[in-house]
Amino acid sequence: MFLILFINLIVGESFEHAVVYGNTESLGYYYVDIWVGNPSMRQTVIIDTGSRLTAFPCVGCENCGKHIDLYFDYKKSNTSRLVQCNEDISCSSCDNNVCGYSQSYAEGSSISGILVEDDIMFGDDFAYAHRVKAIFGCHRRETYLFRTQQVDGIMGFAQQKNNMLTLVDILYRNDDIDSNVFAICFGKEDGVITIGGYNSSIHLSSPVWASLYDDTFYAIKLHYMLLNGNKVPITAADFSSFYTTGTIVDSGTTFTYFSTKIYLSLLEAFNEICNKEGNCDGELKEVYGEAHACYKYDNKKYTDISDFFSTFPSFKLGIDDIEVEWKAKYYLFAWPETPNTFCIGIYSNSAGGNVLGGNFMRGNDIIFNREIKKIGFASSDCIPDYPHNKSRIIIPTYKKHVNDIGVFSVVLGSCGLTSIASVTIIYILRKRSKSQLNEENQEV
Ligand SMILES: *[C@@H]1O[C@H](CO)[C@@H](O)[C@H](O)[C@H]1NC(C)=O
Ligand SMILES: *[C@@H]1O[C@H](CO)[C@@H](O)[C@H](O)[C@H]1NC(C)=O
Ligand SMILES: *[C@@H]1O[C@H](CO)[C@@H](O)[C@H](O)[C@H]1NC(C)=O
Repeated sequence: MFLILFINLIVGESFEHAVVYGNTESLGYYYVDIWVGNPSMRQTVIIDTGSRLTAFPCVGCENCGKHIDLYFDYKKSNTSRLVQCNEDISCSSCDNNVCGYSQSYAEGSSISGILVEDDIMFGDDFAYAHRVKAIFGCHRRETYLFRTQQVDGIMGFAQQKNNMLTLVDILYRNDDIDSNVFAICFGKEDGVITIGGYNSSIHLSSPVWASLYDDTFYAIKLHYMLLNGNKVPITAADFSSFYTTGTIVDSGTTFTYFSTKIYLSLLEAFNEICNKEGNCDGELKEVYGEAHACYKYDNKKYTDISDFFSTFPSFKLGIDDIEVEWKAKYYLFAWPETPNTFCIGIYSNSAGGNVLGGNFMRGNDIIFNREIKKIGFASSDCIPDYPHNKSRIIIPTYKKHVNDIGVFSVVLGSCGLTSIASVTIIYILRKRSKSQLNEENQEV
């Protein structure tokens, strides 16, 4: 009874929602629109459950990239103010009493600038959105992926740790939303995000719930994996030997990473299944940068691509006492350069922890209930039904700066051109998880 009341409460209409844009294949991230300042200026931000800062480039950003929107100009907003050094926020620098920030990400890029407070409105459905005062970072500098990406910036959804509040924290504190909950639903292309509850009308199954084990990251207890119903030979200790629970759900990381031992066992079990006649039914192809061979889709043999996907093993993750399915159509992906060749979006994180990235999150509405420290999974196609512009402008890829190539060759140089080096390159280039993760978990 209580449960029914509870569910009714959180599927009420008091939540905010937005269309999510993006994909794993060509962009490597998923993003939303936010509206900043007065008059409102649009910014597009990567949805990142692995960090807390919201930040995007502002006018004056030196040597910064070309992004979807113009740089934010806080001087043109009549509600903006610069955050001072004495405001009980930890500043990474203090210049003329203006609080500075600086953050680096595990994939190698960094952003830095000053903190500004102004109005922010989330999403694209203004009938539901609240205008709130929030502190965000105004980049003065951005490097590597942050400069070359099309999207403007990033929005953190990690849990509260210091007094740097995320948008979810602010909406909840202001009573603009009823519950301290948000839900992310990534489809193969685009998706839906809700803050303050979730929309069960998009669910294909009822949510199943597992516990969250950390106050900052969305850490879960992953303790076994099934391929076609058979347990992959890994012990629960292999999952937890490094950290509290060993596994985080991080929407800002493109792919999924397991520590070497888990990765190798999984790959072996995977290959064993694929070596059987009729399974994983595509010609094996080497793809540059991939550690393991990929599978060529033959559209004459399988006119419907879902029949091709169904020759691949079903993959289930045992989390607490629930099992979450990761369908082949979501763990397989094709690089834009080789669109009919499908690779497995799972890589080794050497001695690091396990990161279930954006590609793992696809095909489920994942409900982050911070109130009761639970994470829910409900299968969904994650198709936004309210109007959204699928053909929104995509600017041409920003030209590589000499420095970008520099990083590339450093990695090549230090690791050598082995298949392990390939993993490292992809990892550095595609991975987005956070510096905090580095510090706290001594990752990488
Ligand atoms: C601030 O800008 C908004 C939007 O342009 C405008 O409606 C409002 O009147 C301005 N407020 C002040 C105090 O100038
Ligand atoms: C919930 O999802 C349904 C089905 O996609 C949609 O029609 C409805 O507008 C959504 N409601 C909200 C509040 O997002
Ligand atoms: C969708 O985006 C494209 C490209 O930016 C634009 O030309 C078109 O007018 C937009 N359509 C709508 C309905 O907003």
